[in-house]
Amino acid sequence: MSFPDFRPRRLRKSEAMRRLVQETQLHPSDFIYPLFVSDIIDHVEPIGSMPGINNFPLKVIAGEADRVFRLGIPAVLLFGTPSDKDETGSSSLKNDGIIQKAIQEIKSVNSDIVVVTDVCLCEYTNHGHCGIIKNNDVDNDATLEILAKQAVSHARAGADMVAPSDMMDGRVAAIREALDNEMFENTPVMAYSAKYCSAFYGPFREAVNSAPQFGDRKTYQMDPSNATEALKEISLDIDEGADIVMVKPALSYLDIIARAKAEFDVPIAAYNVSGEYSMVKLAARENLMDEKRLVLEILTSIKRAGADIIISYHAPDVANWLG
Ligand code: PBG
Repeated sequence: MSFPDFRPRRLRKSEAMRRLVQETQLHPSDFIYPLFVSDIIDHVEPIGSMPGINNFPLKVIAGEADRVFRLGIPAVLLFGTPSDKDETGSSSLKNDGIIQKAIQEIKSVNSDIVVVTDVCLCEYTNHGHCGIIKNNDVDNDATLEILAKQAVSHARAGADMVAPSDMMDGRVAAIREALDNEMFENTPVMAYSAKYCSAFYGPFREAVNSAPQFGDRKTYQMDPSNATEALKEISLDIDEGADIVMVKPALSYLDIIARAKAEFDVPIAAYNVSGEYSMVKLAARENLMDEKRLVLEILTSIKRAGADIIISYHAPDVANWLG
């Protein structure tokens, strides 16, 4: 059937009619909100590269997590700035490390919040790489051990889920085995499976001061040109025991999200990263576009592509707008 018998505009006639046929709807429970907690500040500090996003000292982090949870957002993702960085990122393993303390704070204020932790070394190493350096290169297998210990340490502090973002080969299996050995067999792993080497992380690196001091991340993060390789990375992570797999960034990789959703039977997460966020904020500040419409359109497109979970700095705004 075609025009004039078929007229698509019939179903766009009114607000109520459009609502009736709407295919994709955002909900606060789709979101994970990233939170930055720092051991080196004692007051809330705005992050210059990410308008509206703050770095929180330990004493107020639980209040912020609770505020977000009350908006209907079920989970937060923690990133930490430690007071000391070294070659191996050893401060990431301490029982009283910044993330471990933050988990305990949040859980003691509201135990219902799903507390997810970023498992990586770049925030804790003085060279800023996501693994241990040997012979001027990031050593894959030596890094696995410390990542596994970090994941266990987070679980022991009360984390509900760990999210390795380092992109070392075999890290999901190493983390899964270590968690199981320590009786954390019920702690899920959300793997940053298809994590691209992206310019969109720029504002984040300023926030946690984690830019690599030499070289770049191209030997471990993926080439933006590659799609088949993303599906391989995802399938490897699922084989190794990942409960949720992630595509990151989101907006330039909607094709990867769609293919992952079609091919795999675990929840697909998409990370709407710092650069995607800050572009919107700066455009809105210049009155180039309407912020609310822009954010809802972008996030709807990520969900429409197939993301079951969206990690976004816009999450509290969205929850407020959705009422
Ligand atoms: C750490 C990590 C990064 C992000 C999340 N975890 C930065 C990086 O890989 O350089 C980026 C998040 C964002 O840009 O919002 N490995």
